[in-house]
Amino acid sequence: MTVPTNVIWKIEPHTQAKHFLLKQYLSAWMPIVSSYFNELLFIDGFSGPGIYEGGEPGSPIVALSVAEEHGGIPKEAIIRFRFIEERIDRAEELCRQVELHNRSRTFDTQVVVGEFSDKILGLMDEFSPSNQHKSIPKLVMIDPFGFSGIPFAKVYQILQQQHSEVFITFMADAINRFLQHPDDSIRAHIDEAFGQKGVAQIILESGFRGRVNLIQETYKQRLCTAAKYVRAFSMHDRADRLLYFLFFATNNSLGFSKMKEAMWKLDPSGQFRFSDRTNPEQCVLFAPGVMTEVYLSQDLKQSFHGKTVLSDKVLKFTSEETAFTETHCRKALKIMEEKREIVVSTIKNDGTKRRANSFPRGITIEFKS
Ligand SMILES: C[S@@+](CC[C@H](N)C(=O)[O-])C[C@H]1O[C@@H](n2cnc3c(N)ncnc32)[C@H](O)[C@@H]1O
Repeated sequence: MTVPTNVIWKIEPHTQAKHFLLKQYLSAWMPIVSSYFNELLFIDGFSGPGIYEGGEPGSPIVALSVAEEHGGIPKEAIIRFRFIEERIDRAEELCRQVELHNRSRTFDTQVVVGEFSDKILGLMDEFSPSNQHKSIPKLVMIDPFGFSGIPFAKVYQILQQQHSEVFITFMADAINRFLQHPDDSIRAHIDEAFGQKGVAQIILESGFRGRVNLIQETYKQRLCTAAKYVRAFSMHDRADRLLYFLFFATNNSLGFSKMKEAMWKLDPSGQFRFSDRTNPEQCVLFAPGVMTEVYLSQDLKQSFHGKTVLSDKVLKFTSEETAFTETHCRKALKIMEEKREIVVSTIKNDGTKRRANSFPRGITIEFKS
């Protein structure tokens, strides 16, 4: 992937796929958190100019449009946006785009010129309890072209703040290619991105075939030191070669399940991947909604066989410990009930009757051994 030098550039399908995920997630996150907290902050740490050559919106405008158009966001909620962009010409273009899109309703928007790693903590601190501001939900998007300028130490500090989440583009292919770069400073950026000295050498020694997996796994483990829930989605180019992983990290289980739902929408095959070569006929290895439930029912049997548990526990397990969503869980339970692999109570624990084939919270499920 060559790094564009012009102010705006041509959009790639994998970028549109990334915007799809962002839009889906924000369409769930913004109404939920704004109803509860009455305030939220979206920071786009590598915002770009806000528009692509063909007129497609950039990530800041995708986010603003969700806030403008989503009917579920209370009118009185304070919606704040901070866009960080290093290049002045791109920042100026972004100001124009924001102006065009901040009309029907006024949001608190600010374009900040500078480097992500210099600006991010100061911006977050403005809205932290230590600054006499109540703690508000914050989503930070970190979308660089390469792997420099994204120190893990900063990502860690973002996640330490209450109600903070990150959505990061992690350039695994570029990292893989630069592991042996003769320039020490380039290899130092890799160590800095992982927040671990000597990591480039460790990955290098794992052997070429396993490297990309190790990059993914190592970064996931690093994020897990600050976030309870982490999931990656891989993006591939026209030749189907891996370009980067999109990592989502949060300490909120509802946020996690909403991002997983968005990822399943983008890739209904459950492989958590998108390729610029994607031909829906070829890419989907198994029909969504058929094998998915079979795989999940195997997981459920393994974890709960011989046990009688509340449906809440099964739904939570699915959402937090598997790749699947609560919707998949209910479909899998329906199949399992039809096959008599589970016995489900007819009365909920609040005393009301359970509707046939439904799997609400508060019902008892007996998994046969
Ligand atoms: C991949 S593009 C962002 C695309 C945008 N997020 C979108 O989806 O439409 C990366 C942007 O970050 C800017 N940039 C590069 N290094 C930066 C840094 N250290 N801090 C902030 N912005 C940076 C680049 O000028 C470029 O506009």
